[in-house]
Amino acid sequence: MEGDEINPILRGYLITIEGLDGCGKSTQARLLSSYLKGKGYPVLVTREPGGPPISEKIRELILDRSHPEMVGLTELFLYLASRSQHVAEVVKPALQKGFLVICERFIDSSVAYQGYGREIGAEVVKGLNRVATQGIFPHLTFVLDISPKLAWERVRGCRSPDRLESQGLKFYERVREGYLALAQEEKRVKLIDGRGGVRQIGEEIRQIVNDFLKERRRENNEK
Ligand code: TMP
Repeated sequence: MEGDEINPILRGYLITIEGLDGCGKSTQARLLSSYLKGKGYPVLVTREPGGPPISEKIRELILDRSHPEMVGLTELFLYLASRSQHVAEVVKPALQKGFLVICERFIDSSVAYQGYGREIGAEVVKGLNRVATQGIFPHLTFVLDISPKLAWERVRGCRSPDRLESQGLKFYERVREGYLALAQEEKRVKLIDGRGGVRQIGEEIRQIVNDFLKERRRENNEK
């Protein structure tokens, strides 16, 4: 996924936050956003599935518990449809304007949940992702790693599970396996121990983002 043809003519950077349900990604997205805004960067926080109105409507359909009959491929294509609209309407324009875009979930969720969880296959999903995103890939990805058991307990403890969350422990085990594989395969994917405290995780993320931005500035010969 890393290569010359990806991320054409973008001035901004895309940072994605991933992990099993209940891993704390919304909190970390918020923390990172206020930190970067404080440093003067233009920041946009968004999420998948969702973002623009069409993508939010698709989100409702995907997560609706009254459709247990939805097959894995339908689910995958709905996530991809939501993503292509989100990229076209929100992510790409913001990156072209030079924003740091922080997105909760993106292509790797489809690889982990549909590719591994639903057993559709990682390579199939990666290929379709490439089409849906017009070749836009995250520059940096954080996977907040928690155990499938903890994810399952957190989700059950705080609200009634949506259609995907109702899949159970075995499903979450496959999804985690997918995230671990991505972290092994792709340099941009950073595995963070999600069992740490909110502050400690936030600090770890900030450190990596700062190093990343410093390196980009150096490449661009900026101060
Ligand atoms: P959220 O609760 O983190 O907003 O995500 C909603 C659910 O959608 C979550 O269980 C993960 C799932 N999901 C996928 O299965 N594939 C995807 O591509 C995305 C973006 C989310």
